[in-house]
Amino acid sequence: MKLIVVENYGEMSRIAADMISKRMLEKPDMTLGLATGGTPTGMYQELIAGASKKNISFKQITTVNLDEYVGLEATHPNSYRFYMNDRFFQHIDIDLENTFVPNGAAADLAQECHWYDETIKQLGGIDLQVLGIGTNGHIGFNEPGTPFDKTTHVVELTESTRKANERFFSEGKVPTHAITMGIKTIMQSKEIVLLSSGEKKADALQQLVEGSITNLFPASVLKLHNNLTIVADQASIKKLD
Ligand code: F6R
Repeated sequence: MKLIVVENYGEMSRIAADMISKRMLEKPDMTLGLATGGTPTGMYQELIAGASKKNISFKQITTVNLDEYVGLEATHPNSYRFYMNDRFFQHIDIDLENTFVPNGAAADLAQECHWYDETIKQLGGIDLQVLGIGTNGHIGFNEPGTPFDKTTHVVELTESTRKANERFFSEGKVPTHAITMGIKTIMQSKEIVLLSSGEKKADALQQLVEGSITNLFPASVLKLHNNLTIVADQASIKKLD
């Protein structure tokens, strides 16, 4: 595990975007695993700015997102598909056909989960997966207690996660369920970059770095990955020894 400590959110976003751009130059047809939420929005802005400044193309890139709310159509302003199109995809030259987000409105959710894992397999796996971290240690929507051997599946969201995500909801309530890439799927990524910013993540980051590996704190599994980089700002590492 490599820990890169940065000053603030802006620097975290720039470093994350630089890491991705570097990998894209090495492998222009890479598969990039992406996250939503508040943490990566600055990174998307940096990637958009960098793409036009440095002439970096996403034409051959494929993306797979971690998760999606059950019951929200792609056009719903709070769906993660909408978030990705709105904040990232429509500002770069990526082919939308090469962007994958689980379909939370699928009639058969079990089949959707199976199809999602098959898609990732057919892509040859994820080259670099970007993660945020929940205050309860969730990664993707893998809540505490999720077995480490889970592939993509449907989860019931905890109250704390629904509460934390209320801030994004412009319409209606935070859904009760989501589809998420499983921990096994995430751990099969060749490289993982976890981003952490702000004081509210300080307890989670301390538990991740200093705590033991347990599925009661899902992010702890990442310590078993052989190519994990954590990019964390000063506020979020404040409780580290
Ligand atoms: C989002 C995701 C979640 C978030 C986590 C942190 O696709 O999978 O695990 O990364 O909830 O969210 P923020 O960044 O809003 O603090």
